[in-house]
Amino acid sequence: MAWSSLSAPELLFSICCIHLFIYYFFRYFVSSKHKQPTVPVCWPVVGMMPAVIFNIQDLHAWATGILHVTGCNFFFSGGWLPGMKFFGTCDPLNIQHIFTSNFKNYPKGEEFLDIFDILGDGIFNSDGDVWRTQRVKMQQLITHSCFRAYVAKSSRDNVEKALLPFLAHAAKQGHAIDLQDVYLRFTFNITTKLVFGVDPNALSIGLPTVPFARAMDDAMASVLFRHAMPVIIWKLLQKLNMGTEKKLANARKVIDRFVEETIEKRRAEKKETKQIEYLPDLLSSYIDGSETGKVDKFLRDTTVNLMLGGRDGAGVGLSWFFWLLMQNPHVEGKILDELKSVPKSFTSDGMVIFNPEELTKLVYLHAALSEALRLYPPVPFEHKGVVKDDMLPSGFLATPGVKILISTYSMARMEGVWGKDCSEFKPERWISDNGKLKYEPSYKFLSFNTGPRACLGKNMAFTEMKAAAAAVVYNFYFEVVEGHVITPKISIILQMKNGLMVKVKQRNVIM
Ligand code: HEM
Repeated sequence: MAWSSLSAPELLFSICCIHLFIYYFFRYFVSSKHKQPTVPVCWPVVGMMPAVIFNIQDLHAWATGILHVTGCNFFFSGGWLPGMKFFGTCDPLNIQHIFTSNFKNYPKGEEFLDIFDILGDGIFNSDGDVWRTQRVKMQQLITHSCFRAYVAKSSRDNVEKALLPFLAHAAKQGHAIDLQDVYLRFTFNITTKLVFGVDPNALSIGLPTVPFARAMDDAMASVLFRHAMPVIIWKLLQKLNMGTEKKLANARKVIDRFVEETIEKRRAEKKETKQIEYLPDLLSSYIDGSETGKVDKFLRDTTVNLMLGGRDGAGVGLSWFFWLLMQNPHVEGKILDELKSVPKSFTSDGMVIFNPEELTKLVYLHAALSEALRLYPPVPFEHKGVVKDDMLPSGFLATPGVKILISTYSMARMEGVWGKDCSEFKPERWISDNGKLKYEPSYKFLSFNTGPRACLGKNMAFTEMKAAAAAVVYNFYFEVVEGHVITPKISIILQMKNGLMVKVKQRNVIM
């Protein structure tokens, strides 16, 4: 029957039927949005892909729902689509096995390297000897006492000269500001200083555009889509320079230009001053005087990796932390109480500032930051490949070709792992009966990763976050703009999709 031969009411009726069919198809067979989370239907040819496409904007919550009903482990099949077999897990025993006990069998893998090609051969992206050599060198630099002192000084300087003055100005003006943008600029300032020895002044009044930071965000969002798409599709988009791949290619150009220019600037400075003594920024430690293209590729990859690790984790962590404080004023009150006993200094405008060294002793502040990082891990999932057949503690046989996805976000929301109150923001869970910090194994508190590839910047991140959190809580409080919706952005980094729009209020400082 040709459509043209239908009468108007028949055509209308047919269109309604098709719409109803599509609606019920998604409602009952594909989507888990409108009912209790359930395992997605595996369709012929395309497997569970329709469910991913339908839920991609709510990916973390959707995956958490599935892992909840399946007891922390779930095999996802993309049907006949190549490279689309995933094993999703947030089971601590599997995690300990994958990341530590049988670490060698679970590298990041070739495909990860391909997906994250923007990171080059840097530490996040490499395996085997290439990774080990970089890790040893970076560990030596980051744990050096001079570098640790440099981190503390840069954090304090940036709180005093950039963060507090910016917030004081915003409080005076009475305009709403995006607090997430502010914290990402704050950590961008510190990280650029630590990595390149240069302060980009990204938090100056007027908030200059920071093309590098925008490019990094675009790149990470585009990379997530590579995870959710068959390789042939994103490679085709890359060839055609379309969609998310076009965005990624543009981001790459901006990132490379920034790194190239900054390295050149630093190199020229080094030549001019002929400094031979230890310089605390990481770039200076890597510049060896040679100027071959090979060294520049190495420097480019190293610095891009450090910028990613350094800026995003702490900036995003601070944003979720302050949002949680706004929902839980009793926690903010306890932090203020704890800060009363800490020695204080004053800025030229009479605002209170703390010495990073003094803040290392605070139990409640550390517990509250850890709790925010538990509930909103800045890296919400990890990706591993499989070298050879291996039985996981949960009974799943991991085989080459299957990708293992570990959901850090979901792990925080499993009653079996964190107890019945797992979804609550409760710093007290980190404090033992004797008032000291409670140890939680890193295969359970996975926010900084676990095993031989655990985060190298954890202490540095806590130093920056405590310096900002203590001074900001002491001098200001915030109110979320009415009607502003807080929801995670779908990206490799757990940013807030719409930012964190707040009004800033100056607190009457308690001496
Ligand atoms: C709250 C802040 C931070 C969080 C939550 C965080 C989290 C993580 C996570 C989850 C990984 C594992 C990534 C992967 O293998 O896929 C990682 C690795 C790493 N992080 Fe961090 N990070 C933070 C801050 C920093 C800082 C400030 C630095 C310093 C530059 C840093 C340096 C690194 C490095 C070098 C690695 C690679 C380790 C390796 O593969 O051997 N991180 N981090």
